Amino acid sequence: MMENGNKKVMVSGIQPSGELHLGNYLGPLRHWPEMIDEFDCYFFLADLHTITVRQNPAELRKRTLALLAQYIACGLDPEKCVLFVQSHVPAHSQLGWVLDCYTMFGELSRMTQFKDKSAKNADNINAGLFTYPVLMAADILLYQPDAVPVGEDQKQHVEICRDIANRFNGVYGDVFKVPEPYIAKVGARIMSLSAPDSKMSKSQPEGCVFLMEKPEDIMRKFKRAVTDSDTERCVRRAPEKPGVSNLIQIYAAATGKSYEDVEAEFEGQGYGKFKPAVGEAVVETLRPIREETERLLADKAYLEGVYRAGAERAAYVAEKTLRKVYKKVGFLPR
Ligand code: TYM
Repeated sequence: MMENGNKKVMVSGIQPSGELHLGNYLGPLRHWPEMIDEFDCYFFLADLHTITVRQNPAELRKRTLALLAQYIACGLDPEKCVLFVQSHVPAHSQLGWVLDCYTMFGELSRMTQFKDKSAKNADNINAGLFTYPVLMAADILLYQPDAVPVGEDQKQHVEICRDIANRFNGVYGDVFKVPEPYIAKVGARIMSLSAPDSKMSKSQPEGCVFLMEKPEDIMRKFKRAVTDSDTERCVRRAPEKPGVSNLIQIYAAATGKSYEDVEAEFEGQGYGKFKPAVGEAVVETLRPIREETERLLADKAYLEGVYRAGAERAAYVAEKTLRKVYKKVGFLPR
């Protein structure tokens, strides 16, 4: 079934650094199950990336397992795709080091996320935070993928990955496939409910909806969602209405409807009806995922079996690429 050399390949990951949120789900994750028949898929839990910011070790372990359960609950069938923990496949760190030596200080300095994160963590601007995109390039290039499905905020990191791959290939021949970012049209950038000028992120929990949150809490966040001062309270997308535009995006992504259909459905109804309707659509989308995650988390042995098998399958492919790279750069084989 897998690694047959004919199917296209896809790889992506999410950091288990916090609770999975609606941005992670509606942006990339909800599309992943649609792809597992067409592609050979590698989906991992990016635990190595999380320690660029201090983590509580016990929490990190717990969240990693919970994220694996959520992957499966969202429809990633471990029989049909490879699910694994990044730190279980040492080739990620090993290729990361090699690629560090083919990445320029200047280009890393221009990464928006580095600038943002170092502003937020002024007391811990560590080297890992700086070289983070290189490790991400290694995560991707090890699997020779065609596509990398991510949200809008990771596009710059996929672009630098392409630059690194092209640079390496320029020196050593075609070692890496140069992948394309795959960014969904609807949901690529879900904004905060409380501050719709910034993206939804776990660092702003008031405006962030978590996948495991209770329905009543989700409803409360939507009812309180920041809109605008339009006196007609018109449900329509517009640059001066970021809050309402974001709610339309969320409703469209959760229900599969087009923006135009959503605007028509709520024409003349005002925000009072619209906001709870969005909340309900989200609650209904998340309910089966939450229930299935809870069920899976009760079966630790099953989850352990999934990540062990996943690490083995991922390592097989990753080590093949790593061997090729080591040979190209001139390391003596063991
Ligand atoms: P992370 O863990 O921050 O986010 C996981 C995925 O969710 C997307 N995302 C969003 N999409 C829409 N709206 C939002 N508000 C929103 N917030 C987050 C992200 O774009 C991402 O696709 N560096 C990555 C993890 C990673 C990775 C990789 C991804 C490590 N190695 C290799 C792809 C390939 C990250 O921190 O994503």
